[in-house]
Amino acid sequence: MNNLASRLSQYQPDSSVRPRIAPEGRLVRMVGLTLEAVGCDLPVGSYCSVETAHGGFVEAEVVGFSADRLYLMPVGVAEGLRPGGRVIPNDKAMNIPVGPALLGRVLNGIGEPIDGLGPIISRETTSLHGKIINPLDRKPIDSTLDVGIRCINSLFAVGQGQRLGLFAGSGVGKSMLLGMMTRFTEADIIIVGLVGERGREVKEFIEQILGQEGLARSVVVASPADDSALMRLRAAMLTTSIAEYFRDQGKKVLMLMDSLTRFAQAQREIALAVGEPPATKGYPPSVFAKIPQLVERAGNGKEGTGGSITAFYTVLTEGDDQQDPIADATRAILDGHIVLSRRLAEEGHYPAIDVEASISRVMPHVVSDEHLKQAYRFKQIYAKYQQSKDLISVGAYSKGSDSEIDQAITLMPVMRQFLQQGLRENVDVITSFQQLHMILNQPQAN
Ligand SMILES: Nc1ncnc2c1ncn2[C@@H]1O[C@H](COP(=O)(O)OP(=O)(O)OP(=O)(O)O)[C@@H](O)[C@H]1O
Ligand SMILES: [Mg+2]
Repeated sequence: MNNLASRLSQYQPDSSVRPRIAPEGRLVRMVGLTLEAVGCDLPVGSYCSVETAHGGFVEAEVVGFSADRLYLMPVGVAEGLRPGGRVIPNDKAMNIPVGPALLGRVLNGIGEPIDGLGPIISRETTSLHGKIINPLDRKPIDSTLDVGIRCINSLFAVGQGQRLGLFAGSGVGKSMLLGMMTRFTEADIIIVGLVGERGREVKEFIEQILGQEGLARSVVVASPADDSALMRLRAAMLTTSIAEYFRDQGKKVLMLMDSLTRFAQAQREIALAVGEPPATKGYPPSVFAKIPQLVERAGNGKEGTGGSITAFYTVLTEGDDQQDPIADATRAILDGHIVLSRRLAEEGHYPAIDVEASISRVMPHVVSDEHLKQAYRFKQIYAKYQQSKDLISVGAYSKGSDSEIDQAITLMPVMRQFLQQGLRENVDVITSFQQLHMILNQPQAN
């Protein structure tokens, strides 16, 4: 009897596949990772299960169409697909469970837990695409968010609901800086999206950077580089959807996305596969439409709800080229950018924030006039030193010729020390400002 039951179970369809009342289609073509199906009539963005030669199913999403052909892309690994395979519409992963049960959990790009702690039980669900907030209804950015990094708190103050980019070439310290912010930021909830980066870093981030205490107030969405393009794209959208959910509950949310460049590359992969022509440096136009669609979802909630999403997106500037099309497009739509310098990182100066190239566009609205004045003064002195650095280092500058340069030379060692910070050192906004004030007002500064 048992034997019969086990033999019968082999022929039972996967219970996770829930057919909807919509006609089934058939697979007619597969080129690269793009599947073409006929016979089913589904809108872009819907889900299907494609039958494999072994009787299993591969999840796929409709990403485009041409006449009566649908273009699909597999969400997971596409193995065993065959001509004529059944394409069964389903409503799986259309709605993602959200709720307090997500805290402390690690999910993949389609919202499934990957931490082995069992399913996420929640009655509330959300969509991947979020709700658009009328820009006039949004609460303005008018208060600071303490991120625990002295250089940022004092010179590039972050506003609650601000969206910032973290720009740097590879290996300059983007992820480490995000890690410091996860530990130190004064937020209620932290949502981390690890999109298209190394798989090894996911575990490291959770165990070493977040730790048990940090994880308890965080949700991590991880889709490493070896996931399908669709999964990576969805991971970025899911991260934003979860952040939106907590924001709408009135929470102060910090959202960290590492990296926005990988999100753009995933969209490029999908768009090129369905035949969109490449435009700028191989990126099709839809990439430049998707970035603002994603980034605009962060920010403050409606006036009166009290919630906010302050977001940091890392942007890879390949070969340290600040003119990279993705860097260019994101710089224009974000409310500020922190640029990391390879030269500083090579000198062991961490965090390697390039004071001259970075900017926080909302700082004037969230700090006092005195704070702003001191921050500008710091930057002026720093810039003065950098302009005359070559002269000073070859000994061609003689003390006394320019009082501003003299002042910059005197202050430089303490200024450099001020900009550096240990990985485990948390410096709050008040201390950061006091220290800034102290440096600029010590007797030799005047
Ligand atoms: N604050 C810091 N203190 C000490 N070392 C640091 C710091 N930040 C970065 N590093 C060093 O730089 C290395 C690379 O940092 P990180 O992984 O953050 O770079 P990344 O910009 O995220 O790189 P990728 O683009 O490859 O993801 C680290 O492994 C570490 O050795
Ligand atoms: Mg990194």
